[in-house]
Amino acid sequence: MYKQLAARGTDAPWYQGWELTEQERATFRATTIASQQAKRRAASGDCSECKHPVYNPRLNPLDLMPQLVGNGLSALSLFSGGGGMDIGFDRAGFNHVASYEIMEGAASVLSAAHPEWAVYGGDSGDVRGVDWSKYRGKIDVLHGGPPCQPFSNAGRQNGASDVRDMIPEFVRAVLAIRPRAFVCENVSGLATKKFKNYIESTIIEPLKRQYVIRQFILNAADFGVPQARRRVLFVGFADQGEAAQFDIPTPTHRHYRSTGFPHNLPATMGVREALGLPDIGFDALSPTLRSGLTGPRHTTSVLSSVSALKQWNRLGVWPNGVAADRAAASAYVAKNGHFRLSLQDCLVLQGFPGDWPVERPVYFALGLIGNSVAPPMAYNLANSISRALHPATC
Ligand SMILES: C[S@@+](CC[C@H](N)C(=O)[O-])C[C@H]1O[C@@H](n2cnc3c(N)ncnc32)[C@H](O)[C@@H]1O
Repeated sequence: MYKQLAARGTDAPWYQGWELTEQERATFRATTIASQQAKRRAASGDCSECKHPVYNPRLNPLDLMPQLVGNGLSALSLFSGGGGMDIGFDRAGFNHVASYEIMEGAASVLSAAHPEWAVYGGDSGDVRGVDWSKYRGKIDVLHGGPPCQPFSNAGRQNGASDVRDMIPEFVRAVLAIRPRAFVCENVSGLATKKFKNYIESTIIEPLKRQYVIRQFILNAADFGVPQARRRVLFVGFADQGEAAQFDIPTPTHRHYRSTGFPHNLPATMGVREALGLPDIGFDALSPTLRSGLTGPRHTTSVLSSVSALKQWNRLGVWPNGVAADRAAASAYVAKNGHFRLSLQDCLVLQGFPGDWPVERPVYFALGLIGNSVAPPMAYNLANSISRALHPATC
């Protein structure tokens, strides 16, 4: 059932595979066949060094976002994906009003994780068809991460001319609902010079009379997530006084890229420490995990660039052919002997609870993970907004 729903999700208008030449297609096919054969050999025990042990992670991402008591504030989620933002707001004590997400496979993950949440998936989750007036005046925070492909390198950066550009839909929802505050999240590529005019005309201009808007970038690694992952945030407040109370979240952790952070902050774990792998005398943040749904074809790789490959190699971790679970990963050591990642490992590297119910197909689960906001970053942002809105319990 899940498989079927997931496949339907990638028919959604925001997903566009790249066109491949016959030669590229043949190369990809050959790689897939070679890895399937190697997997079969490993499963049949047809090699002496097939297995690596199953390691237990040292990082529990839930420790980075302790559950806070209800703060009396409501949050409505658009473009909810696998739930990165939803987790952060929920754990910061917000009352989850509803999630809207076009991919049914993603909506099923949210419902499985939180059966008590109102989750609209598929056609009923398509934000383009929703009459938002039913929420008018009832929402404290509206948050959403419209698809990033129009602004990401992998998505070709076609901005407003990309049919997947849903930022105008987010703006429509803000104007119809008039939340006290909103958060719009996207890849840091949106904050580059190329999209300056786009931001001005599509976000700032339509909202500036009703909202005081701040734009800034956050890095998940500053909040204890073992991954270099930068995102641009637009946060708007309807009330000037509340806007003035808002502070951009400051790092809770330091890491090797931090400069000028107080030394008394706890250190963000590197990949090896977070996943509980043996010490090899080198550790570092994970390169940004790519989404399994972005790129020339569905993929079970989290590799985002050539420089990322160098970093994975130094870490002794294999970023391709992510396995469905730790047992499967341990039974299928990568050709170069490096540690094979599992979906659960990727959840930890993204700051998700290790048992978040993403499932096969692996590419789809990696799509949800790689598209998401790291929950601990969302949590810290949610707390800053909560303080600015002065809820009774804050
Ligand atoms: C960048 S992801 C959002 C990630 C999410 N904020 C998180 O933290 O996990 C964008 C999501 O928007 C969804 N989406 C795209 N078009 C949509 C539409 N018209 N209505 C609702 N959701 C849509 C995609 O399926 C995708 O899951």
